[in-house]
Amino acid sequence: MPRHFLRDDDLAPDELLAVLDLADEMKADRHRYRPLAGPQAVALIFDKPTLRTQLSFSVGISELGGQPVVVDGRLAGIGQRESIADVTRVVSRQVAAIVWRTFGQDSIEEMAALSPVPVINALTDQFHPCQILADLQTVREHKGHLAGLSFAYVGDAANNMAHSYLLGAAAAGLDVRLAGPPEYQPDPRIVADAERIAAGTGASITVTDVVEKALDGADVVVTDTWVSMGQEAEKDAREAPFLPYAVTADSLEHAASDAIVLHCLPAYRGKEISAEVLDGPRSVVWDEAENRLHAQKALLAFLLERSV
Ligand code: NVA
Repeated sequence: MPRHFLRDDDLAPDELLAVLDLADEMKADRHRYRPLAGPQAVALIFDKPTLRTQLSFSVGISELGGQPVVVDGRLAGIGQRESIADVTRVVSRQVAAIVWRTFGQDSIEEMAALSPVPVINALTDQFHPCQILADLQTVREHKGHLAGLSFAYVGDAANNMAHSYLLGAAAAGLDVRLAGPPEYQPDPRIVADAERIAAGTGASITVTDVVEKALDGADVVVTDTWVSMGQEAEKDAREAPFLPYAVTADSLEHAASDAIVLHCLPAYRGKEISAEVLDGPRSVVWDEAENRLHAQKALLAFLLERSV
């Protein structure tokens, strides 16, 4: 059976830590592991824009001894020109794994249900689990540990990053706080899933619309764009409600004095984060972007090894 990674809780808490440990090892010695030697191919399918994901998976698959094959989802027309089922049958005959960035979580679940090879979620409207692996690796590098740290995400608490932070940070035992406008709060089903995970890891979950409550003494401060891919038509409406949730030098006064700041990028300076913070000494966003490479290599190696 293939092991898939469609949402953050597809890795159990101990598995998550094993992947992060492997990511650290791979970062220290980039060419040591070659589970894709052959080379075996991995398909990278993009129905939405990409920079970091295409780059880091392509470089990572090559470093693992494999061959990345980028598929333009707009050309393939998955679900329109050809059904998800037929695409899955064709692609999975030729590759060792499929990495897909698309819109609905239901689409990637449909692919995974049919695929004999691992399917990895490279971002859907609901989750962005690969990013959370890189973020946790980055936090651990800078703070030395994960469990017990307070982790504040402020901004669009209803988006894919918020949902993935709920699940992934709960698995890592963090004190997870999400603050967003009342009309942009996370899916309650995912909050409930995060609370279940937290009960086993010692994590805690707070969801609020009060930005100071999330930021109070936080060790890690995180934000994301207010306009996710696919929401471009709502751009104007998605500004005013979020203004109080911008990460600025002033709002960071509420966080711990040694707080670090993460952002998955692309960032919009002057919107969800000020240039002063993004480009300032607390920002670890370039480490975070690099760690996509190491974390995703570790994930691929882990899923391939566990798929029988
Ligand atoms: N929430 C953002 C994340 C980008 C990596 C989006 O979906 O566009």
